[in-house]
Order: sequence, then C-alpha cells, then structure tokens
Amino acid sequence: MVVFKKKSDLIAYLSSNFDSNSSIGFVPTMGALHQGHLSLIQKALDDNELAVVSIFVNPTQFDNPNDLVAYPRTLETDVELLKTLSNDIVVYSPNAEDIYGDEVVASNFSFGGLENEMEGQFRTGHFDGVGTIVKRLFEIVRPTNAYFGEKDFQQLAIIRHMVKQHGLPVTIVGCPIFREDDGLAMSSRNVRLTENQRDTAPFIYKTLLTAKTKFGTESVTKINEWVNTKFSKVEALNLEYFVIADENTLKPIEEKKEQSKYRAFIAVYAGDIRLIDNIALN
Ligand code: PAF
Repeated sequence: MVVFKKKSDLIAYLSSNFDSNSSIGFVPTMGALHQGHLSLIQKALDDNELAVVSIFVNPTQFDNPNDLVAYPRTLETDVELLKTLSNDIVVYSPNAEDIYGDEVVASNFSFGGLENEMEGQFRTGHFDGVGTIVKRLFEIVRPTNAYFGEKDFQQLAIIRHMVKQHGLPVTIVGCPIFREDDGLAMSSRNVRLTENQRDTAPFIYKTLLTAKTKFGTESVTKINEWVNTKFSKVEALNLEYFVIADENTLKPIEEKKEQSKYRAFIAVYAGDIRLIDNIALN
C-alpha cells in the first residue's frame, strides 16, 4: 500500500507506473472509513485497473468550525482497513497546503440552483467547498471513474452537474447507501454518537420508511406534519429538515405529478452531531 502526502509524488508515481490508458477508479473521502466507503472502494477496484483513495478532511466545506475540529481523523486505522481490501490501493492523504497553498478558501460555484436547496440552506458555503475540493482532486488524480455514495444525494447531484458544466473527463458513479443492521445510514460521524444517541438514531431511517409507505396514499403536507410531530416526541434527536423533493431538480414539492421521481431527505441533530439520510419514494 502506498500513501502519498504530496500531489507531486502521487502524480509522479501514477505516470511512471501506469500508462495514460489505464483506467483509474477514484474514491474521494474524508477518512474515518467504514463499510460504506469500503463498498465504493471495492467497486472502484472491480471496475478499474487501479484504485486511488483520497483521505482529506476538507476545511472549506465545513460551515461549523466545531464540526471541523471534532471530525474523526484516523489515518492509521483507515490504511489498515484498506489493506483488508487490497494492497494495491493508492492513497493520497495531503495536508491543506498541498491542496490549497497559502489560501485555504473555496471558489464560487453555481450548480444550476441545486446548491440552494436543503443542505445548501442550512450549511452556508458547503457546496462551494465540496465543488472546490472535488474539482482539484479530479485535476490531480485524473480518474476515469469516480465513486460517490447516495447518502449525500445532493452532493452527488451537484458533482454530476459540475462534471457536465465544466466538461470534466470523468464518469461519476453513484452507489447505494450502506446501512447498519438496524437501518442507520453509515457515516463517519456515527462514531461520535453516545450510546443513547446511537440507540435512538435508527428512528431516522424508520421514519423515512414509514414516510415512503404513506407517500402512496397521503398528501405531502400530511406527511410533513406527521414527521415533524414524530420527531417532536424524541428527545435525543432534533429535526433540522424533512423535505420531499423532485429527484432531479431537488426542489421541494407540495403535490405529486405522475411522471416525476421523488425522494425524501432528512437532516437531524443528535446533540451536536449532524446526521443526514434519504430514501427514494417512487
Ligand atoms: O463526501 C465526502 O466525504 C466529502 O464531501 C468529499 C466528497 C470527500 C469531499 O471532501
């Protein structure tokens, strides 16, 4: 397993060990790897001649400085976990300077309005930070395919949009959400949950499943009300938003149309830990 800290070393290694036709599968991560990441990385290994994984907690996508400080950083364990998949994975784990130089700032992006919904409303500047880091990583790694989880469904939509808009030569592959046995979506933040929060957190997915059942027969307004009432009774969890939105535009809906595809999106606080999830409704 090779771990590069500097983009110049990574680029030199890739160009001297692989010809320019080799297909590179790339999985960008912020580390604290879990089974969800490993499923993306396994897919990258299966589909390509080589897999590159980046591990970098990107400061410019954090709107909340405390969340940035508290974000788990577990490089050694991450590398050990990667070795369980393959010794041939190439890891890029830079510091902020290698990516940003002296100025750790995001560029401004416009993603056709996708950035203004849900996460965009509650995390100012988040998607500028994501766009900046993902575009830079693509320029460094030059992947053929890049793999992203559907847990961050809005992020996935925004990256697809950015790739089209900027004509970036990479295929984006979206992968299904990986869940714990009790339904909780896997997230690097889950390790920070207290025992009580961890026991309560599966309520998020249970609520999404019931909302999906209700979607066949009840109005969007009624479902929204039902979810809000349900969460108001759970002390350990604070609902930030629950939104039923069009899967393509990500715009919240009030009424369903026959032809459209819809998804429910949710963000919840357990103490200061923010958890998100989503589910296809039809
Ligand atoms: O999904 C994540 O972990 C991050 O947003 C990403 C794509 C690695 C960019 O920092």
